[in-house]
Amino acid sequence: MDAKIVVNDIRKHFGSGAAALPVVGGVSLSIADGEFVAIVGPSGCGKSTLMKIISGFEQPDSGAVIIDGQPALRPSPKGIVISQHGSVFPWLTVQQNLMFGLNGNGHGDKAALADHYAAMVGLKGFENAYPRELSGGMLKRVELARALVVKPEILYMDEPFSALDALMNLRMRTELLRILAEERHTVLLITHDVEEALYLADRILVLSARPTTIQATFEVRHAHPRKLSSPALQQLKEAILAELGL
Ligand SMILES: Nc1ncnc2c1ncn2[C@@H]1O[C@H](COP(=O)(O)OP(=O)(O)OP(=O)(O)O)[C@@H](O)[C@H]1O
Ligand SMILES: [Mg+2]
Repeated sequence: MDAKIVVNDIRKHFGSGAAALPVVGGVSLSIADGEFVAIVGPSGCGKSTLMKIISGFEQPDSGAVIIDGQPALRPSPKGIVISQHGSVFPWLTVQQNLMFGLNGNGHGDKAALADHYAAMVGLKGFENAYPRELSGGMLKRVELARALVVKPEILYMDEPFSALDALMNLRMRTELLRILAEERHTVLLITHDVEEALYLADRILVLSARPTTIQATFEVRHAHPRKLSSPALQQLKEAILAELGL
């Protein structure tokens, strides 16, 4: 497979002088087209910063990000970010939120597309609801649908399910896998949940403490749907937790 994303020795610090905070300490990686890569690492190590650099929202001090063979210097329409903080517009309905990023087409076509994606994430019947009328889990599904409706080539997800309870988290994982089986995207996922990474990803990167580097890489070559209780995946989990010092 061709490399979709190439990250070449990225370094980044914030602040200056004595207050300078080195955050990313030299990260290189290559992500294949259609690959699902998960990143785990200690809190505050620089995961979100690294993702912001790869998605073009932050500039590195040195190093480069290459997407489809072109240097990525700014956010590209090829990629969509689902951030740690959420980005649903509270004053728009579910359908209007999903239509927001769509251009071209007539209103009717956009509405139909929005409704199709709402249904895909299990929000059929809630197209005209406002975010305040939804549960936390439903809101997260609006986020996911809003990202998918524009058919991004790359999906950047920064702890998208971490605010959800355990049951909803499991449902979202399954949902995401089902959608990815239908519409292949290249995915970069940050998570603090090793099991979530093991369930979803083709490859798991363990990042070191700040300034962060790639401390270890684990390939997950198991077919979906995965059984996390299988001895092989349990072994992988223990190896990853050991890398994290747990
Ligand atoms: N814009 C910024 N200006 C200054 N410092 C920043 C900025 N963004 C991040 N930092 C600092 O960089 C470090 C890494 O932050 P980052 O958000 O990348 O960590 P993280 O690994 O995503 O953490 P978490 O797991 O808690 O989400 C932190 O010490 C943070 O305070
Ligand atoms: Mg973060």
